[in-house]
Amino acid sequence: MKLYEYEAKKVFDRMKIPIPKQYGVIHSLKDLDKLNIDFPVMLKSMVLSGGRGKAGGIKKANDLHEAKKLSEELFKLKIKGFPVESVLAEKAVDEISALYIGVTMDPADFNNVVIASSKGGVDIETVASKTPDAILKKEIPGNDKTLPKKIAEDLSTKLVKNLSGKKSLQKEIEDVISKLYETYQKFDARLCEINPLIITSKGLVAADAKLVLDDNSLYRQVELLEMLGIKEKRHDVSERTKNELKAQTSGFPYVDLLTEDHIKDKKKLYVGLVPGGAGYGIFSIDEVKTIGKRYFQDRVIPINFMDSGGGPPQNRVADMFHLLMDNETVDIIITSRFGGISSCDVFIRGMVQAILDRFESKRRMIPIYGRMVGTDLPSARAFLEKTYAENPEAMKNVKIVVGNQKIMADVIREGIKEAFESRGWKV
Ligand SMILES: Nc1ncnc2c1ncn2[C@@H]1O[C@H](COP(=O)(O)OP(=O)(O)OP(=O)(O)O)[C@@H](O)[C@H]1O
Ligand SMILES: [Mg+2]
Repeated sequence: MKLYEYEAKKVFDRMKIPIPKQYGVIHSLKDLDKLNIDFPVMLKSMVLSGGRGKAGGIKKANDLHEAKKLSEELFKLKIKGFPVESVLAEKAVDEISALYIGVTMDPADFNNVVIASSKGGVDIETVASKTPDAILKKEIPGNDKTLPKKIAEDLSTKLVKNLSGKKSLQKEIEDVISKLYETYQKFDARLCEINPLIITSKGLVAADAKLVLDDNSLYRQVELLEMLGIKEKRHDVSERTKNELKAQTSGFPYVDLLTEDHIKDKKKLYVGLVPGGAGYGIFSIDEVKTIGKRYFQDRVIPINFMDSGGGPPQNRVADMFHLLMDNETVDIIITSRFGGISSCDVFIRGMVQAILDRFESKRRMIPIYGRMVGTDLPSARAFLEKTYAENPEAMKNVKIVVGNQKIMADVIREGIKEAFESRGWKV
């Protein structure tokens, strides 16, 4: 569960991590009159999404008149689909430098990890991708409740080295790193982050605060939730991609495995997956990746996870295919229907509906390879055969194996092979 910045700052304050003076959270312009502000003030959009600064959601005002004008602008803003309904007013501090410090868990080995950089701020993602050496990362094996002193000392010493003339800060940074780690542990967080940790002429200040709690541990955090006045578990809103939002509207779970700004590598084959269920979805990702590695020089990229849910209606199945065919990155679709609760007949009708719709309206079409077995197979087979006979042109790049004569791994491998050959790529 994500906390709002003002909530995370309450937690930081309790843990004695220095934060800017908090004037309050406003819900309307009138609320500003009630706050006793010592200008300049930072006005910060309270949405559960990152990248607020870049979206124009963080403003600095020098007097009340300006604060009202800027707040009015903020209240009209939507950040990554989230409307700004409240704004935090806090003291604007002077920035000499900005650090990044975060604690999270490495999902690969379940070790806690402390990440730090002397290049903090709104561009930390660019720093991480362009100059990864500027990011320090320290794995903390074991599940110590406090950070071993040596690690905090090492990290802070390295950070200070990059800040010439700021040696006196080392102890202060060490202290904040230790307290941040302690906060992460104490409140069962999945992520605990300060970006930026601002260096001012008077010392350090956590100008931003991010705290994501582990939903599975909320039952242990009754006191924390009470302190923050959170009565019910907040429905976890995460940042969704455009495809994920579309899928949500159509009523099926979907996850993009590539970032929205991914630049297509012309030497690779991008595979969209329409699996039968969540398990098959995960299997397909692994299988496409493994087959690509083993037989196709690791040039095959699965682009998505999705799940139709049990017994999906025909329109939903059609939407699943539309979503992938609308995605210019996707080169081919691999699909599998293992009909248990779900009907092969409904599945094939949904798929055909999408194909014929697109064929008639001349929308983008890409080859589909797949297999189906299970419930309602005979009627599904009959319908598919009829469709092939009546619409040979629309169906010419659709290859569905009906029945068990081929295992999915072979279907995937043959589909990829054909796609490679049609591009003149070596297999
Ligand atoms: N209290 C403050 N005083 C001075 N500058 C601030 C303050 N709060 C934020 N800033 C400046 O605004 C920038 C953006 O603020 P912040 O980090 O809170 O938002 P963000 O990083 O865009 O949001 P998110 O971290 O959610 O992506 C900071 O990098 C910092 O330079
Ligand atoms: Mg930030």
